[in-house]
Formats: sequence, C-alpha cells, structure tokens
Amino acid sequence: MNSANQSVKPITTKINENGNLEIGGCDLVKLAEKYGTPLYVFDEETIRTIAREYKKAFSSYPKVGLLYASKAFMTKAIVRILDEEGFGFDMVSGGEIYTAYKAGADLKKSLFNGNNKSFDELQMAVELGVGLISVDNFFELALLNDIAKSNEKKVDILLRVTPGIECHTHEYIQTGHLDSKFGFDLTQVDDAVELIVDEYKNLNLVGLHAHIGSQIFETSIYYDEVEILIKEMARIKEKYGIDLTHINLGGGLGIKYTEEDVPPSVFEISSKIIDSVKENSSKYNLELPEIHIEPGRSIIGTSGVTLYTVGSSKQVPNGKKYVAVDGGMADNPRPSLYQAVYTAEVANKPNIVSQEKVTIAGRFCESGDILIQETILPELEAGDILCFYDTGAYGYSMSSNYNRVLKPAAVLVNNSQSDIIIDRESYEHLVSLDVIPDRLKK
Ligand SMILES: Cc1ncc(COP(=O)(O)O)c(C=O)c1O
Repeated sequence: MNSANQSVKPITTKINENGNLEIGGCDLVKLAEKYGTPLYVFDEETIRTIAREYKKAFSSYPKVGLLYASKAFMTKAIVRILDEEGFGFDMVSGGEIYTAYKAGADLKKSLFNGNNKSFDELQMAVELGVGLISVDNFFELALLNDIAKSNEKKVDILLRVTPGIECHTHEYIQTGHLDSKFGFDLTQVDDAVELIVDEYKNLNLVGLHAHIGSQIFETSIYYDEVEILIKEMARIKEKYGIDLTHINLGGGLGIKYTEEDVPPSVFEISSKIIDSVKENSSKYNLELPEIHIEPGRSIIGTSGVTLYTVGSSKQVPNGKKYVAVDGGMADNPRPSLYQAVYTAEVANKPNIVSQEKVTIAGRFCESGDILIQETILPELEAGDILCFYDTGAYGYSMSSNYNRVLKPAAVLVNNSQSDIIIDRESYEHLVSLDVIPDRLKK
C-alpha cells in the first residue's frame, strides 16, 4: 500500500480549468495574488491523509504513541490538526511546548526532548504536565530530579541513547559507539540507571528513546534499532529488575523530493517495526512495550509548497542562466545548508513543455543562495509564479530574517478555501524588538 510521503506533490495537486496549478482546490496563481509571495501553502488533506496512514499502519499493534516532531513545522493551526488526528507532540524547546499548550494539545501524550534543556524549560514541562521527558545526559538527570522534587512530583522519563546506528541519507552503518552530541552511549546506561535507582527518587524510568537519522529510505535500519533497544531493555531488567514499558524509535521516514527518490511507505516502516518489536520481545523474554514514534518530515513535508515570483535573470556568457526569485536561503535554508534538491514547476504555465536549463537563484546577498542548481523549465519571464514542492518540513521552521527580509506568510488550503495560519511579517514587526539606548537616540 502506498502512502502520501511517496508523492512529490501534495495529493490534491492538479491543473485547473484556468490552466494553472491548483492545490486543495485553490488556484496557486490566485493565492500568490491574494497573499503575495514568497508564500508557504499547506494542504490540509495531505497532512490528515498521512496522519491517518500512520494510525492505520500501527493499528494492529495494541499500544502505540504517535507523536509529531514539532521541529519540522509548528504553528497553532498545525497543532490543532494533528491533535484532532490523535497525535501527541515531540517538542524540543520552551517555544514548542508553549505553542502546543496555547493550541490545546494533549501534553500528557507528548514528549520533551533535547540535549541541553534549560532549567526554565524543564520547569515549564513539569508544571504543564508534559507526559514524558527524554533525559539526554547526566547533568540533566540531576537538574530534572531537583525540579521534580521541588514540584513534589515524580516525573516519567525515557533515557535517550545512541544505539550505534547512523544513517547517511540512504545508507546506514552500525558501530559500537557513535560520536554524537545526543544521548547516553550504551556503555553509560548502567551509571544513569544506578543514579536513578539510588539517588534520583523523583524520576521514574519507563523506557528508552533513540533517533537514528532523517530522510531514511531503508526499512531494515528500524528493525535493527528496535533489536538494539529491546536487548538493552532486557539487560536492564535482568540487572536491576526494572520493567521498561516504552520504546521510542524517533522519526526519520523519508519523502520524495524528486522523481528519483523512492522512499518506503508508512506501511512498510510500521511492519518492520512491529515485526521487530514482537520478535525481539519474544527472543529476550519481555512483555510487548508501548511503541512511540515521532515523525516530522514525513507528516508535513509533502503537504507544503512555496510560491515565489520570478524577477531578474542573467545569462553568463557561455555559461549558466540564472533566474532569480523573491525568496531564497532565509525562507528555505536547506539547499545552501546541505545541498538539498527540490522539484519546481511554473504555477501559471504547468502545461508548457520544459525546454530551458536554468539555475534558480535566491535574492539574498550570498553567492551560495541558490535554490536549484540545475533544472529544466519552460522559458521563465518576470512575474511567473514558481511552485517549489516538498518545502513543508524544515523550511519555515528554519527560516530567518537574514538581510532584514520579512518572513513570508503561510496559508492552509482545503476544499477550495484558504486561510492564513502565519501572517506575513511587516517592517513594524521587524523593528519591534530593537531598542536604541538613550545615549544613542537622535
Ligand atoms: C529526536 C528526534 N525525533 C524526531 C525527529 C524528526 O525526524 P524526521 O523529521 O526526519 O521525521 C528528529 C529530527 O531531527 C529528532 O531529532
């Protein structure tokens, strides 16, 4: 069975009677006119479809916690959609906890995770009743225990571990140890468990947590991850008599950025995970644990596109043709950060045969601000609307005001309706936190 992460385009994408691209029943050219560009557009049907596919894929297993990795893209409206779909939230900062809280998420179902959570953030998570905290290191064990004690609470925790599996895009390696800033090395787990048992009486260890990478195409890596964690849980049970009931496998399922990408479906991933949990629980004589997963990119990536307006262009003599758009590395840092590759189409002429090789340049003052190194598109003119697919994850959430350029708006489309979910910034917003000390005032 296929799932929505295996499509380059949001599932409602089509060419409409005006000859323009349409998503969620909304003409992209009209959206660009109405809201301006750059514009992030999110298709609600694609988000709900993949969320339901995840639920269906794990429905045969009795105890599952589906968490959305908020870092991929979080706004209050996105929280509402995924809360309605029954998801909890994987959160990594006070800001993400606050957003989830303000939007009415079920924090009991949610997890706070990260390698350097502050006192204030941990305090906030404990006070607001975030269900699980994934403790990353020895410093945090002590800090969280103090906070739980002063709040007269016993807090359920997972230990974040590095299972010795590393994913390099489409391949992975297994090593004894991983050089990673996240989590306890497996050789450090005993020391952590002993501290929890002997000293940290306000912490209740319920399971293990790991995350092995992102944009993963290989299903067997999940099988191996589960085996390593279950083996470790069995060892902890044997040595300390502690029954760990939760196994959190992180996120990572890949999406289809280009036609060459072939990510597995949600159903292929879930069956590898469930098979491995069942087989290894039986092999190591453990009760079936509650499985938690926390996908980000595969939930939101495919649903989002970015619309840009074409502006200037430049033909280098005997060289490339650069076509510049009105956004770039500040609204989507992924191409300049790690050479991410995207598929683009012209929203106002999707039917015209592509014939020109071009480089799509951003508008920011960096030579590295190139959105697509090489693509073939219909001849582009100023005013054309370019639609970049698969920008839903790690686009807005990694955006900045570099060059003091305003952050774009985001709209949610569904059933021919479009609604703003993040307003476009104004110049007033931009300077609103600036302060001129008295001695510098004019
Ligand atoms: C701990 C953890 N969980 C989940 C995710 C989400 O990963 P993805 O967006 O690839 O599903 C990440 C991403 O970095 C992560 O670090």
